[in-house]
Amino acid sequence: MSNNNLFQPFQLKSLHLKNRFVMAPMTRSFSPQGIPTSDVASYYGKRAAADVGLILSEGTVINRISSSNDPDVPHFYGHKALEGWQKVIQEVHQAGGSMGPQIWHMGIMPDHHSGWRPASPFEGPSAYNSPGLANGKAMTTDDIDAAIRAYGDAAAEAKRLGFDCVELHGAHGYLIDQFFWKATNNRTDSYGGETLAERSRFATEVIKEVRRRVGEDFAVIIRLSQWKPADYHYKLAQTPQEMEQWLLPLSEAGVDIFHCSQRRFWEPEFEGSDLNFAGWAKKITGKPTITVGSVGLDGEFLAAFAGESSQPSPLDELLRRYDRGDFDLVAVGRALLADPQWVQKIEQNQMDKLKGFSKEALAQLI
Ligand SMILES: Cc1cc2nc3c(=O)[nH]c(=O)nc-3n(C[C@H](O)[C@H](O)[C@H](O)COP(=O)(O)O)c2cc1C
Repeated sequence: MSNNNLFQPFQLKSLHLKNRFVMAPMTRSFSPQGIPTSDVASYYGKRAAADVGLILSEGTVINRISSSNDPDVPHFYGHKALEGWQKVIQEVHQAGGSMGPQIWHMGIMPDHHSGWRPASPFEGPSAYNSPGLANGKAMTTDDIDAAIRAYGDAAAEAKRLGFDCVELHGAHGYLIDQFFWKATNNRTDSYGGETLAERSRFATEVIKEVRRRVGEDFAVIIRLSQWKPADYHYKLAQTPQEMEQWLLPLSEAGVDIFHCSQRRFWEPEFEGSDLNFAGWAKKITGKPTITVGSVGLDGEFLAAFAGESSQPSPLDELLRRYDRGDFDLVAVGRALLADPQWVQKIEQNQMDKLKGFSKEALAQLI
């Protein structure tokens, strides 16, 4: 099967991409005091120079005191951190690439392994990160309003600095997802409720504010996952109808692209169809989608944290689904973390030169 179709350009609003490959957002914790260094800029610059169509940054946190549990995760606020990001986007653009920051608030978190803590308690829809793990406080409506404004500020800064889009991190059990999930959102005000649609109010307000701040022509992506770190098999939406009630309001609020996080892209979302999450999101909303999860590798990413290595694997199933129109873009995580040249090797059919992934790659910015 030919890889050529994935090397077609993609255009949407502010995005003009040379191909369909996206670097997945990956936290690296190499930004002391929240400030991206020149090593961070060259790490992303190398991927841009080696033909990654769109780079999504590691999660970078908004201006709330407790938005992060890690002192080395980059901020997306404050003069010094934004100056660091300015250098990142300059280097990416000089290398011919496109990039958007992944805007993040972690919500309620366990403490960092170093014992570091932010200066105020973690905040979320409730005090819970997951059932049984409380570590912070439920947000007041003033906290919620301020957090929504902070998402908007970060998006406006992204546009001002010259980034090509923004991605909102609405997945993997962090703040926005904590609002979606019944187990962590037990609110009795208008940000809670029995239905997923009701619990999506925080997300829709964030999206509307971001849209208001960046204007109509700037691409806004949202990353979503059904699974939670506390429960890999959990599904927020149990049926296509529930997924419709979840995604349509987000789409109407102003999302341009849905980034549908799975651990293995080939896994069907619901019984009776082989469509994956990105396939369903595209069918339901009619908007472009990004798929992700073990593209080009034979093992999945959470096992990687436990030290498992992954070997290169063929792209035939990915291409079959792409050619069928299930999704528009393909995000690649570990393969690109370990090898900046991964996309070029695919383009030049140098399958024997692919490296796979082993956890040693996490120890430094390659
Ligand atoms: C080291 C590492 C850090 C990650 N950090 C983030 C993150 O900051 N935001 C996010 O949405 N996903 C994060 N992820 C998930 C990846 O974006 C991606 O969805 C996952 O690795 C699956 O893709 P892969 O199988 O190609 O690696 C991270 C993954 C890894 C391996």
